[in-house]
Amino acid sequence: MQELLQVTNITAGYGDGPAILDGASLTVEPGKVHCIIGPNGAGKSTLMKSICGMLKIRKGDVILKGKRLNGMRPDQILREGICFVPQERALFAKMTVRENLRMGGFILDGQKELYRRVDEILERFPMLKEKADQHAGTMSGGQQQTLAMARTLIIKPSIVMLDEPSLGLAPKVIQEMFDIMKMMSADGITVLLVEQNALMGLKNSDWGVVLDLGRTLFQGPAKDILADPRIRELYLGGKKAAA
Ligand SMILES: Nc1ncnc2c1ncn2[C@@H]1O[C@H](COP(=O)(O)OP(=O)(O)OP(=O)(O)O)[C@@H](O)[C@H]1O
Ligand SMILES: [Mg+2]
Repeated sequence: MQELLQVTNITAGYGDGPAILDGASLTVEPGKVHCIIGPNGAGKSTLMKSICGMLKIRKGDVILKGKRLNGMRPDQILREGICFVPQERALFAKMTVRENLRMGGFILDGQKELYRRVDEILERFPMLKEKADQHAGTMSGGQQQTLAMARTLIIKPSIVMLDEPSLGLAPKVIQEMFDIMKMMSADGITVLLVEQNALMGLKNSDWGVVLDLGRTLFQGPAKDILADPRIRELYLGGKKAAA
């Protein structure tokens, strides 16, 4: 299958600081769920920030459907259909659920279409509809994460990037987040996620990427990564955890 997004050997860092990413590559196929795993400080969040234009890429390429994205601003990359939910979710705590959804569509022209899409999302997520006029900051962690993920749909994205969507959530709630990802994927939206619980992330994904020390060590079908004894030992907590 033709790749949707191709990240090739990128180098990136913060300001004039050292290269945090140096040789990070990624192949993203349409409609699939991709999971980036790797130890703390490996550069997983930095890779997501580089793809969405928040960080300047020094070397290498990010190509979306044949179009080079490096050098473009975050809002331009958003217009290309890549939506990023950072680890801290970036919600407006003092705004209502409905207002947060509207904010997600700031690149859209025409208020009528924006409002129509907000209603569409509220229909799709009954929990959000119920809390539409409640401040986002008053909701539970799982509800806020649901809002952050649902908000990406407002621009009808082709790729949604999620940085540790399960962080701080109870296991039952985490499964709900994976169910939303599966729903996105069934709708043809490509999901790229970073997951601290590598085992769980890979089990819920089609494709896996192992990043360490700023470079891609391996990428391939998630089931192959789960079955690889060396990767299991180094990144999945050893043999027991994978049983
Ligand atoms: N804003 C920043 N300025 C300078 N260095 C940073 C900044 N953010 C991250 N770094 C450094 O970049 C490296 C990679 O960090 P990054 O957050 O990308 O790792 P990560 O794989 O997402 O780790 P974690 O699992 O802890 O989230 C780390 O050494 C970190 O200290
Ligand atoms: Mg991170």
